[in-house]
This record gives sequence, C-alpha cells and structure tokens, in this order.
Amino acid sequence: MALTLNQNYLRAFVGENQLEAIRPEIEAAKATLTQKSGRGNDFLGWLDLPIAYDKDEFAKIKRCAKAIQESCDIFVVIGIGGSYLGARAAIEFLYGQSYNALSKKTPAVYFAGNNIDSSALSDLLSICEGKDVCINVVSKSGKTTEPAIAFRVFREYLEKRYGKEGMKNRIYVTTDARKGKLKELADAEGYETFVVPDDVGGRYSVLTAVGLLPIAVSGADIDKMMAGAAAMRETLLSAPYAENPACQYAAIRNLLYRGGKKTEIFVSYESAMVMLAEWWKQLYGESEGKEIKGIFPASVTFSTDLHSLGQYIQQGERTLFETVLIPRESNASIPIPCDPDDIDSLSFLEGKNLHEINMTAFKATALAHNDGGVPNLVLEFDRRDETAFGELVYFFEFACGVSAYTLGVNPFDQPGVEDYKNNMYALLGKPGEEHAARRAELEKRILK
Ligand code: PA5
Repeated sequence: MALTLNQNYLRAFVGENQLEAIRPEIEAAKATLTQKSGRGNDFLGWLDLPIAYDKDEFAKIKRCAKAIQESCDIFVVIGIGGSYLGARAAIEFLYGQSYNALSKKTPAVYFAGNNIDSSALSDLLSICEGKDVCINVVSKSGKTTEPAIAFRVFREYLEKRYGKEGMKNRIYVTTDARKGKLKELADAEGYETFVVPDDVGGRYSVLTAVGLLPIAVSGADIDKMMAGAAAMRETLLSAPYAENPACQYAAIRNLLYRGGKKTEIFVSYESAMVMLAEWWKQLYGESEGKEIKGIFPASVTFSTDLHSLGQYIQQGERTLFETVLIPRESNASIPIPCDPDDIDSLSFLEGKNLHEINMTAFKATALAHNDGGVPNLVLEFDRRDETAFGELVYFFEFACGVSAYTLGVNPFDQPGVEDYKNNMYALLGKPGEEHAARRAELEKRILK
C-alpha cells in the first residue's frame, strides 16, 4: 500500500496497550459505517463511489472537460464549502499553487462564490476581460447565497460578452438531479447539468462531478484518481485493525482527544497541500464539531509557519497534536548550487537536493515538537499525483466516519451552519414572516 501511517513520533504519547484498549470501540464504529447502520446513514453513497460511480456521467465529465479545454482560457468554478474545496485541493495538489500561471494547454481555473468579497469578485472579472470564459456553478442545494450571488454576476457578465444564446454553451451546472432553484434555472435555460448524488454530502463529494469536472478540465487523469480511491477502499474494508491505517488514525485521534489534545494541526511541507488542508479542515470540522465535542482542525505549512506559529506549537498550551503529510518523493528536483567563495557559509549543503533538506526539516521539527509534548502522526505517500490524491481522499473520508462514530456524533450532518445563514437572511430582509420576526430581534441586539 502506498499510504502508510508512521507512528515513530507518537510512541511516547500513545501506548500499544491504549491502542488495544480502544480497539473494540473502533471496530464497532467501522462496522456501523460499513454496515450503514448509524446516524446519517442515508449519506453513505461515497463509501462505494470508487467502484460504483455512474459510468455515463463519468464519460460525460470527460467529454465536457475536453469541450471546455477547447473553448476557453479561463474556467471559473462557482461554489462554497464542499462544492469547491475538493476540486481546488486536487488541482493545487497535482500542479502546485502556480497552476494558473504555468498551465499552457489547459484553461486557468479560478474559484468564485466561496465568499462575499466584492474585491475578489471584481478582480476576477477583470482577469476574465479579453479571455474566453466558461463557468461551472456547483451547489447541491441550489440555494446557497454566496455561489448564487456570484452566478448571477457571471450570468450578467457572460450575457454581455456572448449574448443569451452564446452563453448557454459556456455554463455548466452541477446540482441535485431533480430539485432546487439551480436545477429549475438550468432546465429552463438549457444549460448542461451534472448530478450531485442524493446520498453524498458536500464534503464527501470530491469524487463526483462536483470535483471531477474541474479536475478533468485541469488535465488530470480522473481514471487514475478513482483507481487510487478504489485501491484504498479495498484496503480499508479488508485490513484488520492493527494494519488498517484509517482505523489506527481514528483510534489515535480519539485517544489523544480523551487525553486533552483538543486541536489537531494538519502539517505539510509543500505549499501544494495548503488547499488539501482546507478540504481536510472542512471534512473533520463539519463532521465532528457538534454536541459540544470534537477536535478543532487547524493547519500549517512548514517550514514557513515554523517562523510564526512554530513558537506556539513548541511552547504554548499543551493541547495540540500534529498530523504530518509527507511525500516520499518530491515532484521537483533542485540541487543546492556550488559557490566556490562560500560567502553564505552554505557549502556544507552543496549537491544536496532541496527535498532532502525539507525532509531533514521535518525530522528535526517532529523531534523538537515531541520534546515539547506534541505528538506527531505521520502519513507517508509516494508522490503528489492523481493516484495519491484518490487514496488520500478516501482514507480521510473513511477515517472521519470511523472517528466521528467513535466520538458519538453523526458525521454526515451540519446543523450548526444554518444559524449564521438564518441571521443573514433576516438582516438582509429576505421575504417571509420568520425572517421578519428574527430581524426585529437581531436589530435590537445590534443597536445595543
Ligand atoms: O459539506 C457541506 O454540506 C457544505 O459545506 C456544503 O458543501 C456547502 O454549504 C455548499 O452547499 P451547496 O452545495 O448546497 O451550495
């Protein structure tokens, strides 16, 4: 198996006896997940997705991705939360943060509708000027405010540029198969549509059209991605507890949490994984953070953040642990050049590869953080490619289900995200009696 869980930097904190003691709970949680008998079990479509995905839809994704590649310079993906994080994580994981600057044969991919930031949207519209643009609006519910606003702005923009008929071939909609405002609009206007399956929630949807269309547009091989996820699924379903990385990860997280480690920091040593960390934060934060429970998911990129948050991690509150993602091989090779004058006194590094130095930074940091009382779990994988992305996605989703059931919460709902939305609708004057009553009450509080 390409993905392995290295516990070398954890042993001082979690003993074999503890891992054995929690085993029955983890095995029960795994059974609840795989037998689909727990809370939220109508959102388990992602479990079999790597082998049971809709092959016609998959072929359509590839066809449309090709058409998009041929007809635009810029592809704008409009969506928020689970409707954009996976696609963005994949594209950056594969090509790095400079994909848009470096991509020559495939369109630049920008993301909109994941905030209400007028400057960001205005900048993106400026970037689009003089370029051919296609858009993909992604919303399972079809009614989320942030993407709906961005979509309205882009529809107006595309109509001005291409006319009502011309814009039709430039709009791709990913939403529910039957219901929602977005579905109604897409059907009425004749836009190409893709389906978010009923039984797959937003944060588990990257391996559906939600993630796969933008990922395919970037030129990635989505067959390899599904194969990576399928191989991981096979391992996690069959491997016994001690050899099952998802069960081990879920066990370790729960043991550390019970021992007072309330914050988990996702650590990577490559900026290409910044968005993977954002995707992971949503997955674990929304799945576990409820009923006044749950590990707070945070993230850092080292060695950059060793010069900022590193101080806190080394010596601040001892409530942290780290999960470190390490590729065995780097996607690029830069040897340290020779300088006969050794002006910078760095000649002792001459000839070494930058990745080797980065990996030394990892070992040095893990040991220092261990000494400071911070356990480190290390996930090692071969290299940043489509197969690894598929493996990692499935690994984290499966482990999240097992971990959340062990914690005793429903991993597949997110009741808490409604509160800010209801307040916002009320304050913005959305029609409806319930909004009006809430508005009066909220305005009183604001004025106080
Ligand atoms: O995980 C989730 O369910 C959420 O993050 C949603 O993906 C997010 O709120 C966007 O919802 P929608 O796709 O309905 O616009």
